[in-house]
Amino acid sequence: MLREIPLDLVHRLLAPKPVCLLTTRCKGRVNAMTAVWAGPISLEPPLIALAVHPARYTHDLLARSEECVLNIPARPQAELALKLGSISGADEDKVATCKLQLSSPQRVEAPRIDGCLAYLECAVVERLAPGDHTLFVLQVVGAWAEGEAFGETWLLPEGNDDLAPMVYLGGREFAIPGKRWSQSIEPG
Ligand SMILES: Cc1cc2nc3c(=O)[nH]c(=O)nc-3n(C[C@H](O)[C@H](O)[C@H](O)COP(=O)(O)O)c2cc1C
Repeated sequence: MLREIPLDLVHRLLAPKPVCLLTTRCKGRVNAMTAVWAGPISLEPPLIALAVHPARYTHDLLARSEECVLNIPARPQAELALKLGSISGADEDKVATCKLQLSSPQRVEAPRIDGCLAYLECAVVERLAPGDHTLFVLQVVGAWAEGEAFGETWLLPEGNDDLAPMVYLGGREFAIPGKRWSQSIEPG
């Protein structure tokens, strides 16, 4: 039986979504926050829409530096994702308190977080304010992924959950995609 879903939960109907750890750097200050409201909106150029609430410290760093890295973590980083998603860089230095191991990016200034499965280096090309979050339109200027985890799609190798992207369901609930198949279309 269908039941009506309260409008404040509608975004969870569009879950699960991959978890991103969004790193920014501005004038020597580095920050990282967890973000799931990100999705592709153009292939050529490769664009991603990312929704960030103006209250986030990241919002300020992203607006001023106009660059970021979307780090795609795996299951061993689930606790880190919750921490980066519940503490603000305005209150504490998350690089220090979360003991982030960072590496140099290739095409932007914001750092990568070591141990992630993939890295999308992005430049902000547009900013919109359609609701309570700012919609940053990001152009991906370079992307890298672990070969064992991603070929032309996520490979989801059986028996190795740590090579699958983590997805977020809401609250403290995470999941990893469990089953992969190739779907055929029968003629007629
Ligand atoms: C799993 C998860 C996903 C989140 N996704 C987003 C998001 O897409 N956009 C957003 O503005 N905040 C999101 N948040 C909240 C921010 O990560 C959180 O407010 C964080 O503490 C902001 O850090 P900052 O102030 O250092 O930027 C998410 C939190 C969690 C735990």
